[in-house]
Amino acid sequence: MGEKKEVILSGIRPTGRLHYGNYFGAIRHFLRLQETDARCFYFIADYHALTTISEPENVFEETINMLRTYVACGLDPNRAIIYRQSDLPCTAELALLLGMITNIGHLERGTTYKDKLSKLQEDPKAEGNPLSYGLLGYPVLMAADILIVRADQVPVGDDQRQHVEMAIDIAQKFNHRFGETLHIPRAVGRDALRLPGLDGAEKMGKSEHNTLDLLDDRETVLKKIRAVETSTDPLPLHSDSDDPDVVIPQMPAGVGVLYRLLHLLAPEEVYRDFLGKYRRREKFYGMLKNTLAEHVSQFNAPIIERYNDPANSREFVLAFLRENARRVTPIALETVEACREAMGIGHSLYRA
Ligand code: TYM
Repeated sequence: MGEKKEVILSGIRPTGRLHYGNYFGAIRHFLRLQETDARCFYFIADYHALTTISEPENVFEETINMLRTYVACGLDPNRAIIYRQSDLPCTAELALLLGMITNIGHLERGTTYKDKLSKLQEDPKAEGNPLSYGLLGYPVLMAADILIVRADQVPVGDDQRQHVEMAIDIAQKFNHRFGETLHIPRAVGRDALRLPGLDGAEKMGKSEHNTLDLLDDRETVLKKIRAVETSTDPLPLHSDSDDPDVVIPQMPAGVGVLYRLLHLLAPEEVYRDFLGKYRRREKFYGMLKNTLAEHVSQFNAPIIERYNDPANSREFVLAFLRENARRVTPIALETVEACREAMGIGHSLYRA
């Protein structure tokens, strides 16, 4: 009795539709953890979305649709606290406080910032926002998201590992300077996934235009998978292992993506059977693509159905957002007030 429940927190930006990287890097773990007795906080990072939009888009509508996709995937607003980042504006206050102790050099080494910087150096007229203060501070806001609910675990894909490490770092620095105030989360596990894009690029991502989406219908799935580049000669595998982490990196990029997806979606024996064909250098890519497309379509079908279910409406989402904003606010305010006190400015007088 009295033992503290494990706290889980994670978020996703409302950038259009959810893709397979989001699902297997993050949502899959959200679903698993929702079934345990941990306290789960899953949110839509609409403030963060503002760092990347190139022209005014309807972030609000994207947020609602993203939440309908969350529900369609099986996330349950009764078991997890599902909310919208901007409904917890005290996160921005915590980010401001944490910003006071965050070194700029540290932020300049952030991957998101560095990527944007190098893209702008290649093409100064590149679309999108300028190199903004908001983009530089992206990891600080993310640290605030994590620390504000006193998270223990942050299920994310491998691309977000560095951001979680920065949050840990900022929290440790805070505690060192102002006394034990913030709860330190655990680092992201080594097994975090980085799903490559359909074009063979290192990462599947919305801005890379190389995604396979959860709401893609059968025809789109087939078209996208058939277009994956498989004309390169197979490279020999220097291992007898079936372990995807061992063999897939030895394949040409496009082929590797197909195997990675097959391993995630199909029964193990189907994956092994196709691995055998690869080793024997049979001509089989057409069959592999059709088999994979079938598994993807079967995976998507119930999600598409639940997405379009009249019960999974805008009104339903708005109702649980309002309710959950009320549930998470007192938890978050406790952290912000503790930080204010620790830093010496004292409690907010209007919140009392
Ligand atoms: P975002 O919206 O870019 O991605 C959401 C989640 O999907 C994972 N992901 C992937 N995983 C594996 N392979 C891929 N190709 C792939 N693409 C995306 C991401 O790792 C992530 O888990 N900064 C976050 C949102 C955020 C957040 C937070 C997350 C804001 N505050 C606090 C956790 C905690 C982001 O941009 O995710």
